[in-house]
Amino acid sequence: MRIAFFSAAASSALLIAGCTASDLPDQERVVAPILTSEQAFDEFTYARPLEARVTHVALDLDLDFEGRRVEGTATLDVQAAEDATEIVLDSNGLMIGGVTDGLGNELEFTVGEADPDNAEKGEPITVQLGEMTGPELQQVVISYASGPEAEALQWLSPEQTAGGEHPFVFSQGQAILNRTWIPTQDSPGIRQTWEARVTAPEPLTVVMSGISRGDPEPVEDADSDRRAFEFVMNNSVPPYLIAIAAGNLEFAELGPRSGVYAEPEMIEAAAEELGDTEELIDAGIELFGEYRWGRYDMIILPPAFPYGGMENPVMTFLTPTFIAGDRSNNGLIAHELAHSWSGNLTTYASWRDGWLNEGVTSYIENRISEEVYGEQRAEQEYALSYASLEEAVENAGADNPNTAMRSPDEISPFDTVGPAIYDKGTVFLRTVENIVGREEFDAWLTAWFDNHAFQPVTSEMMLADMRENLIGDNPELEEQLMLDEWVYGTGIPDNALAPDPAAFADADAAAQAYAADGNLPEAGAWESWTAASQRRFLENLPETLSDEQLATLNETLRLSESGNNEVLFLWLEAALRNEYDPAVDQARSFLSTVGRNKFVAPLFRAMWETGDWGQPIATDLYARTRGGYHSYTRGNVDEIVGYSNEG
Ligand code: BES
Ligand code: ZN
Repeated sequence: MRIAFFSAAASSALLIAGCTASDLPDQERVVAPILTSEQAFDEFTYARPLEARVTHVALDLDLDFEGRRVEGTATLDVQAAEDATEIVLDSNGLMIGGVTDGLGNELEFTVGEADPDNAEKGEPITVQLGEMTGPELQQVVISYASGPEAEALQWLSPEQTAGGEHPFVFSQGQAILNRTWIPTQDSPGIRQTWEARVTAPEPLTVVMSGISRGDPEPVEDADSDRRAFEFVMNNSVPPYLIAIAAGNLEFAELGPRSGVYAEPEMIEAAAEELGDTEELIDAGIELFGEYRWGRYDMIILPPAFPYGGMENPVMTFLTPTFIAGDRSNNGLIAHELAHSWSGNLTTYASWRDGWLNEGVTSYIENRISEEVYGEQRAEQEYALSYASLEEAVENAGADNPNTAMRSPDEISPFDTVGPAIYDKGTVFLRTVENIVGREEFDAWLTAWFDNHAFQPVTSEMMLADMRENLIGDNPELEEQLMLDEWVYGTGIPDNALAPDPAAFADADAAAQAYAADGNLPEAGAWESWTAASQRRFLENLPETLSDEQLATLNETLRLSESGNNEVLFLWLEAALRNEYDPAVDQARSFLSTVGRNKFVAPLFRAMWETGDWGQPIATDLYARTRGGYHSYTRGNVDEIVGYSNEG
């Protein structure tokens, strides 16, 4: 099967593919181990890495904005067991033109059937290996293009950008979406180094989650107005961390190690909001050791980006909705930066150990926030996490398997994002820290990162390490910590460290007063509160509110004018669940630009659950906004409103 869709640029790249893969001496690249324990097993990959595995990926791609696809080649360095005859890669809708070795000899390949019980897993590409003698013969070169539905890639029309003139594209690889645009072994336990050469039409700038090799070069083809950008990542990373974005971008330097990319319309506000970045990096280093990635840059994406942030190495991807003008949502930056230790340096081998990335990161986020923004803010954020965990456990039931930190086996990799992972992880580690003492705990966690740098890890490895290096021969301490209950058990273990009840003295007293006799805080007092206090108050509003109450709330606290999207979101949610007509226009315009799932899904749910009032509004709105949402957000809202393509 051969498909004739390759551009001149891509096919000429084919001829030199053998030398693009490795212009670095081999000894600079450390091949990370593959874990073989039961806990490390990833059922969401077709790869059989013990037989043959990818160690390095070299991409040579063109971004095709008209066709909304990437096309070109991926050259994979393969390490195979002596008796291995084939290598299995992951694909999801990729269109494969052909496969050769590094010298251009054709290799046989098949694209298998998708697993009917596990459609998101995609389909396997099985390549017959050739001789495997000599470096080029240990390469597999795949000519391909992404398919029309490639879910990792979101192609935005100019209207979806701040400037309104140029298209934009970004990728979101985590959890298992990168197989829709990169043919490799897409499993977090199979670490790979990578490099890329990517072309895009002028004046677009391409950024990736690797170090930029220098200035872009014009592509030398006749009548081409394209430029080529090159990137390299010499640290082996889980493949979900390979990321790309391209648009009309400007760069603002924030400090010696950091900077931000954004559309020109956003760059000033972005640079101002991110003014604490160098301090945040210093705090991370001070707490948990060396920053091993070189630079820490960020990109502000258009509001369609489905997450708050994504920790792509050296290039955190961010929603513009965190910008509040007062840095009050910068816990998000602390969070994505914290992944430089937990998640990117040490990575879960299996999606079921979500807490090893996200729970540990939420804990470190809080510690970094404390260093940079002070104890009060950290205490408040901890109290919000604790409340969110309590609420989740209350709703699910304390014996619900989904409240265990190591997720049950049927869980989708995309669903390992709830409070049982983020908030329970924070509370767990704060509890341990509190019992063993901060100094010892920090020394242990720093050593954990050092000893497992650039390696996959599992729950049982973490717990064994705690027992060996933190607990030692101390049965009392072992009993006090309740480690297994935290990780494998459901609900909230008895030894959980409760938040300081004084953290939200203002907001909690105000919420009580409001519930008791309808008294609201003075506008002046409200404005002097931290954003976290405002959130706390709004999260504790009575479920049911009358139109009159909502009108007074909004008039007094000016909620619909809040510059903080977290606050605005909580207002809209309360208004919609109470069928408040005056809020509908603002909800419509918010949902027409913002695609962040954390905001979009609950607002549609709030409308939907009212029944007759909200369902027609939601249906009508969704028909217009659905196309602008990322596949992740779309999938979630589809479920809420029962959307079906056939319908
Ligand atoms: N890595 C996650 C996002 C993610 C997790 C994507 C699992 C796909 C699967 C990212 O670091 C994250 O946690 N983002 C949060 C940040 C928040 C907790 C501060 C978000 O986007 O809301
Ligand atoms: Zn995270």
